[in-house]
Amino acid sequence: MTEFSQRVEAISISGIREVFEAAGEDAINLGLGQPDFPTPEHARQAAVDAIEAGDADAYTSNRGTPELVDAIVRKHDRDNDLDVAPEGVIATSGGSEALHLALEAHVDPGEEVLFPDPGFVSYDALTKLAGGEPVGLPLREDLTLDPATVEEHITEDTAAFVVNSPANPTGAVQSPEDMREFARIADEHDVLCISDEVYEQIVFDGEHRSPMEFAETDNVVVVGACSKTYSMTGWRLGWVAASERRAERMLRVHQYSQACASAPAQYAAEAALTGPQDVVDEMVAAFEQRRDLVLDELEDMGLDVPKPEGAFYAMPKVPEGWVEEVIDRGVVVVPGDAFGEHGEGYARISYAADTEQLREALDVMRAATNALR
Ligand SMILES: Cc1ncc(COP(=O)(O)O)c(C=O)c1O
Repeated sequence: MTEFSQRVEAISISGIREVFEAAGEDAINLGLGQPDFPTPEHARQAAVDAIEAGDADAYTSNRGTPELVDAIVRKHDRDNDLDVAPEGVIATSGGSEALHLALEAHVDPGEEVLFPDPGFVSYDALTKLAGGEPVGLPLREDLTLDPATVEEHITEDTAAFVVNSPANPTGAVQSPEDMREFARIADEHDVLCISDEVYEQIVFDGEHRSPMEFAETDNVVVVGACSKTYSMTGWRLGWVAASERRAERMLRVHQYSQACASAPAQYAAEAALTGPQDVVDEMVAAFEQRRDLVLDELEDMGLDVPKPEGAFYAMPKVPEGWVEEVIDRGVVVVPGDAFGEHGEGYARISYAADTEQLREALDVMRAATNALR
């Protein structure tokens, strides 16, 4: 017998944290995956009101308050033209828990889960925690995931594949045609498509579509969150949207691991989802300006940067030693291989920082690039 489970020994704390710790206190941090805007005032106020009225003291229903569940249902109708049943929704502690529920409820030990590499760090770790076998899929030159690559890697043991658009760490946005293909693959191969759409509103070029719109079976589970859209990462509020039978299985996991999402956060999320959406437009416009600045500057330095079309990350190809050189000079960026082996030779730059800081950081990157020549 070993002291710790094999599942937990198979994972470790994400490499991203180590990068923060390596940088000094005065460093400009472009390593963070969170917007640098405040949570909308009306969302904050809704939580304050609920707390003061004593409405947020008790457990809510496991899947969330009926009002929040309804807000999520209406959000999918409004933004995605999707008809999701209230029984298909579970409010979770962030998109992170939503991913965990989707994998726990659908993956048996030894079954494979396919996901983009480089990709968000949780896909690999949560697959291992579920006892599954992670399979990282290499990306196209533009850093999108080719549906053909997914199809080639499907075996008898594949339980699920993850699609993430707009993507962390690449900023890549999948085309509607790709999303249609992912849906076809989920239908035809009878494998689950977990569509991580937490950045769905942050799109500059192209458009966000969900594979769920195109699927003819219920083989798509959508993961959503308030975290990025409303700059609410600290509130911990996300959700899954699925068929009733899938949600019922995920609810079993949620009931025992979480009981319910934090009640004050549920009130804030309801207000964010149902309130004015112009705050989102403003944030997205700011991100787009910064994307343009970062892209222009990096290209001007001679770096090869697949054009990021969404989220708030750029992922240039960088020469050997570049990440270390940039960090040494006081700017935190994350080495691409923190997101999977195929991320090697890239760096993730988060531009969720104000323009002045970004300009300063870009100057440092230019100096580091020149020093390496
Ligand atoms: C692609 C992706 N999915 C899910 C999450 C989890 O988000 P949350 O903060 O809502 O748990 C993140 C957070 O960085 C992410 O980048």
